[in-house]
Amino acid sequence: MLASRAKLIFTCSLAFLILAIVLAVWGFPKIVNKQIQKNVQLESSSQMFDKWLKMPMPMDFKVYLFNVTNTDEVNEGEKPKLQEIGPYVYKEYRERTVLSYGANDTVKYMLKKHFEFDPVASGGLTEEDQVTVINFSYLAAVLAVHDMMPPFVPMVNKALEQFFTNLTDPFLRVRVRDLFFDGIFLNCEGDNSALGLVCGQIRAQTPPTMRPADDANGFYFSMFSHMNRSESGPYEMVRGTENIRELGHIVSYKEQPVLPNWGDQYCGMINGSDSSIFPPIDESNVPEKLYSFEPDICRSLYVSSVGKRTMFNMTAYYYEIHESALAAKSANPNNRCFCKKNWSANHDGCLIMGLLNLAPCQGAPAIASLPHYYLASEELLEYFAEGIQPNKSLHNTYVYLDPVTGAVLSGVKRLQFNIELRNIPTVPQLQAVRTGLFPLLWLEEGATIPVSLQDELKAAHRLLSYVEIGRWVLLALGILAALAAGAALAKAANLIPRHNNSVSFILTNGNGHKG
Ligand SMILES: *[C@@H]1O[C@H](CO)[C@@H](O)[C@H](O)[C@H]1NC(C)=O
Ligand SMILES: *[C@@H]1O[C@H](CO)[C@@H](O)[C@H](O)[C@H]1NC(C)=O
Ligand SMILES: *[C@@H]1O[C@H](CO)[C@@H](O)[C@H](O)[C@H]1NC(C)=O
Ligand SMILES: *[C@@H]1O[C@H](CO)[C@@H](O)[C@H](O)[C@H]1NC(C)=O
Ligand SMILES: *[C@@H]1O[C@H](CO)[C@@H](O)[C@H](O)[C@H]1NC(C)=O
Ligand SMILES: *[C@@H]1O[C@H](CO)[C@@H](O)[C@H](O)[C@H]1NC(C)=O
Ligand SMILES: *[C@@H]1O[C@H](CO)[C@@H](O)[C@H](O)[C@H]1NC(C)=O
Ligand SMILES: *[C@@H]1O[C@H](CO)[C@@H](O)[C@H](O)[C@H]1NC(C)=O
Ligand SMILES: *[C@@H]1O[C@H](CO)[C@@H](O)[C@H](O)[C@H]1NC(C)=O
Repeated sequence: MLASRAKLIFTCSLAFLILAIVLAVWGFPKIVNKQIQKNVQLESSSQMFDKWLKMPMPMDFKVYLFNVTNTDEVNEGEKPKLQEIGPYVYKEYRERTVLSYGANDTVKYMLKKHFEFDPVASGGLTEEDQVTVINFSYLAAVLAVHDMMPPFVPMVNKALEQFFTNLTDPFLRVRVRDLFFDGIFLNCEGDNSALGLVCGQIRAQTPPTMRPADDANGFYFSMFSHMNRSESGPYEMVRGTENIRELGHIVSYKEQPVLPNWGDQYCGMINGSDSSIFPPIDESNVPEKLYSFEPDICRSLYVSSVGKRTMFNMTAYYYEIHESALAAKSANPNNRCFCKKNWSANHDGCLIMGLLNLAPCQGAPAIASLPHYYLASEELLEYFAEGIQPNKSLHNTYVYLDPVTGAVLSGVKRLQFNIELRNIPTVPQLQAVRTGLFPLLWLEEGATIPVSLQDELKAAHRLLSYVEIGRWVLLALGILAALAAGAALAKAANLIPRHNNSVSFILTNGNGHKG
């Protein structure tokens, strides 16, 4: 009697042990992953979805300008002295409008950004500040003509003097607000055929920085007003309801799976997310590179894994930009398709280390780099007398990710816009300057999750650690129960005849006690 009861208990505890093992090894992780997926996938029931539709807090959008302090000397061929002014801080709000849900687990949406000046964070700087910067739109026009048909440059420059009033040198004295958002008026009125050429070129290429004036007599040039005015997209993004590792990947932009700008399948690849959302990290297979798609520069960029760091008392994976991302084709042959023929008369279209030609992207001969030519060829620095000093801690691009949810704990993206200042003997404004790459401004877009979200994440992590503990407790209980029941059984077995060996209980399928 006693023995059969012990056997029953032992059977039960054994079943419990097996159940505990199955749950601990397979069930709990499965349930936990399912639960995480439910919370982060782009689905109206998930916690993430509302934050994705409308960012709960604004991002920081900071702009640093390069004020030229020795314009007269530069006009006479000396090296430029620059004074960095900034940051001019804007709050950047983001909102998405869902257009439709597609096959292959995707959502199609438009992205609307909205900027507001933050005078407090900008310190003493105001949008009324007067600065002297490189005259971007003027040089863009001259370079375009010089590259296409050099003999016409003097004639076109005459027209430009009409187009750009008070054109004495390649610099622009401007109010910050006009340069960023309000715009600088470019007059297209006049019966000059060269002027018609320049204006026609702008109309044909519609660079995003050129906003047609209401009366169609000219354009307003500004760096960021197009971002504030119009929606971008449509983007098509993977929702992660089927495969969480694909969450956030952008699969098409403006209805195209490959960007047409580079005329190349490889360079046009749309890789990664829009850097606001990433899939959770599989700790047994941590990705080497995190891609993000940057529509402003028409390409995907990546940050490379550096390792684990602690952020806000949480374990985070840290990624930062590596020089291979913007490397010259000699250092990274994959980048060869970002070279663009016809960029410059005396150039194969391939740029040196750390530069990206934006002409195919923006319809203007702009060149992108990291701020202060960080990670770029050092020969760029030789052009300046002062004011350019690459510094990793100030000019790096990085992200800290929470591995459990893929949430961005903190991250910044930094990019500088430059244009070539070219010595052109036939243009009075440019006949004495040194040829070199001239910076206009750089910007930093970043976000750090607020304390409330940090606490939310920490609570989730705590819950997970309880579940983790629960899993081992369950397993331990299963083992203890099986051991105890086994011991009890062994003890009971000693009270009855020897041939009812407890071990045979399993082997003989419990028939032993009948004998
Ligand atoms: C920019 O430099 C000019 C001299 O070229 C100076 O007059 C002006 O005050 C500077 N602007 C600011 C905001 O410091
Ligand atoms: C879905 O994916 C398949 C295979 O990857 C592809 O052939 C198909 O075009 C995709 N459908 C849509 C609507 O993107
Ligand atoms: C952006 O546009 C809104 C109106 O759509 C305007 O109120 C706001 O001032 C603009 N932001 C900037 C920085 O110009
Ligand atoms: C052009 O220069 C004249 C005289 O220096 C000045 O009165 C006028 O305001 C300037 N125009 C512009 C658009 O800067
Ligand atoms: C620079 O170009 C602008 C147009 O972008 C023009 O209005 C201005 O007169 C030019 N500035 C100078 C100082 O020549
Ligand atoms: C896009 O991603 C693929 C695979 O992850 C990679 O091989 C390729 O180099 C990336 N393309 C670009 C342009 O970064
Ligand atoms: C981090 O954790 C330690 C110990 O758990 C605590 O003393 C400290 O205040 C925490 N710091 C933050 C920023 O939460
Ligand atoms: C480059 O310029 C040549 C002539 O100047 C032209 O025939 C060719 O189409 C241009 N190529 C591109 C990609 O613009
Ligand atoms: C880089 O910038 C940081 C922060 O301003 C500063 O502490 C550091 O000295 C700079 N490093 C160099 C090499 O200039």
